[in-house]
Amino acid sequence: AEQELIQQNLMRWYQAHHRQLPWRDITDPYRIWVSEVMLQQTQVKTVVPYFLKFLAAFPTLKDLAEADPGRVLKLWEGLGYYARARNLHKAARQLISFSDGRIPDRFSDFKALPGVGDYIASAVLSIAFGKAHAVVDGNVKRVLSRLFCLDVPVNHSSAHGTFKPLAEALLDRTDPGGFNQAVMELGALICTPASPDCTACPLKDLCCAQTESRIKEFPVRLAR
Ligand code: ADE
Repeated sequence: AEQELIQQNLMRWYQAHHRQLPWRDITDPYRIWVSEVMLQQTQVKTVVPYFLKFLAAFPTLKDLAEADPGRVLKLWEGLGYYARARNLHKAARQLISFSDGRIPDRFSDFKALPGVGDYIASAVLSIAFGKAHAVVDGNVKRVLSRLFCLDVPVNHSSAHGTFKPLAEALLDRTDPGGFNQAVMELGALICTPASPDCTACPLKDLCCAQTESRIKEFPVRLAR
């Protein structure tokens, strides 16, 4: 069906074209977690050196839990949104103190940790544990808006309720982590906000906005 064609084309493109990044092709849930916390509000090229420094300083969850809060914040300096660092540190301490240092592989358990919302929980559980949770971030919303000509405003609080079930329905359940990263990578490299490179897109023949020449109409944003 249509959905399988989307999955196949996307996954084949991702395997051939994805960027080699320090958090790719690993499954250590701690490292994936750190990368996704940094990536949630910061661009990939900014994150790379911070990720490498952070992991060199705190190679394991236990190292992070035992670290001085001032040192954690120092390594975050320049990345911004410092609550991310404080929450990550607090979560690490909780897991070391109360869960034997084990990172939960169940969505509800993971999401209960400080600073962990739907996005982080879905990203870490899918990428590190292969669990079937779809990621919804700005890239994913933009890709899906164009692919299906969805006129739901992506910057409205109601957007998540529309995009999450759609992303779940489209998810490749044989490789949820690969699929999530493939959609995000397509949004970052091809299906970009201002001038998407539709000629290079693996989904161009399946994309509503492209086949109807309506790329400029999507994603819909609400003035606010
Ligand atoms: N943005 C946030 N996380 C990402 C990931 N794992 N791959 C590509 N882009 C991302």
